[in-house]
Amino acid sequence: MQLLDELRAEHERIDQMLDSFRTGVNRFLDEHDDPADLAHFIQFFRLFADQFHHSREEEILFDAMVNQVDLPGDHGPIMVMVDDHRQFKEKLDRIHQLIEKPSPTPADQVQLRLVTEEYIAGMQHHIDAENSVLFIEGGICLDDHGILELPSRDMSDEEKQVLDMSDQLLQLYPPTLDPEIIRGDGCFVCPAFEVTCDGFEREWPNHSRWSGLDDDPFSIW
Ligand SMILES: [Fe+2]
Ligand SMILES: [Fe+2]
Repeated sequence: MQLLDELRAEHERIDQMLDSFRTGVNRFLDEHDDPADLAHFIQFFRLFADQFHHSREEEILFDAMVNQVDLPGDHGPIMVMVDDHRQFKEKLDRIHQLIEKPSPTPADQVQLRLVTEEYIAGMQHHIDAENSVLFIEGGICLDDHGILELPSRDMSDEEKQVLDMSDQLLQLYPPTLDPEIIRGDGCFVCPAFEVTCDGFEREWPNHSRWSGLDDDPFSIW
């Protein structure tokens, strides 16, 4: 499905920009770099990641999964992803406030590093969950319902501008990876697993490809 291919490709750019943002924030805090570029990162995450990418996920992909496939939107993987999107917006607003402070206190600086790391790790776990669960298992459910394509939309001029700008930011701020973030595929590495979501096999019992099996293949009992 072309929409899923587009969303996956956008994940790659967003993922790189998250690690690049870490470099930018580190330089701002440790080397007193000009915060102007950090505002450009925030523009990218607001316009490209949220306005363009997350809104197409919610309004087109998840909408089709809920309204055409009848997957639940009020619990399980879709609810977790939508709630993540909302939390990412709040964290980004908080980061923006901290960056804009004319005389940040040491506590503000600690807070900036903390919220930035939460934002980056949260987004990267979210990308992994979408790539490996929502897009794969959700894609199978869409296929099973004969939904082989969904509409997309072109980028607006301002969304294109921030995407172009991200090329320069990646050059200026080479990505810094955090080896502490444990990344991987599937529900078991998702921070929401068994906290706010029981995993797609149990949350989508009538739709997942595991339905119809007599025994729960994920049960250890
Ligand atoms: Fe998402
Ligand atoms: Fe996404």
